[in-house]
Amino acid sequence: MKELSLHLLDVAKNSVTAGARHVDISLEEDPQGWLTVSIRDDGRGMAPEFLARVTDPFTTTRTTRKVGLGLPLYRLTAEQTGGSLDIRSQVGRGTTVTARFQRRHLDCPPLGDLPGTVAMLIQGSPDIEFTYRHTTPNGAVELSTAELRDILGEDVSLAEPEIFAWIQDYLTEQEEQAAVDIDPAAMIEGEIT
Ligand SMILES: Nc1ncnc2c1ncn2[C@@H]1O[C@H](COP(=O)(O)OP(=O)(O)OP(=O)(O)O)[C@@H](O)[C@H]1O
Ligand SMILES: [Mg+2]
Repeated sequence: MKELSLHLLDVAKNSVTAGARHVDISLEEDPQGWLTVSIRDDGRGMAPEFLARVTDPFTTTRTTRKVGLGLPLYRLTAEQTGGSLDIRSQVGRGTTVTARFQRRHLDCPPLGDLPGTVAMLIQGSPDIEFTYRHTTPNGAVELSTAELRDILGEDVSLAEPEIFAWIQDYLTEQEEQAAVDIDPAAMIEGEIT
């Protein structure tokens, strides 16, 4: 995939499909270019046998086709930058998918449209509680649907187009302030240890 935000959308959609009531999305960037993306849910979880082969493309509970590609491609993308993917899950409790990427690696996709992705997730599942947090050496971006609900009151649905636009604008402004420029001249090729 060309952008990390598309992977994020895919993994968060897995949480929605798994019946989660809460989905926490966290991105943490350190000064060395390492980005840790963690998506945690309280959905139905996965049994150990299933979990052991979930990054194999033929593992899916989809009924429309035989292959699930979300997690295998996510793992591949992380590993191509010298990073890794870790999935922790417990049946009936939930799942945490943590990926590490080296943003300065030539094969690391750009972040993509994080504000649009988060706004879309919230609009698509207006009754789920989402938290979003992106921290970088330059600042922090934070959004919580529970807080939004407190401000807006119970009569307003988070599926409203005005809310979508507000979330997108709010996050775009925050993301611009926290953004880290990746210098193409300082890109790293090959293995990183
Ligand atoms: N957060 C989660 N909670 C519970 N089960 C999950 C979770 N994430 C993935 N799974 C299980 O792992 C399977 C594989 O997920 P993956 O994203 O790789 O493929 P998919 O969602 O089936 O298909 P695709 O992502 O290509 O549309 C899913 O079908 C689902 O059964
Ligand atoms: Mg999927």
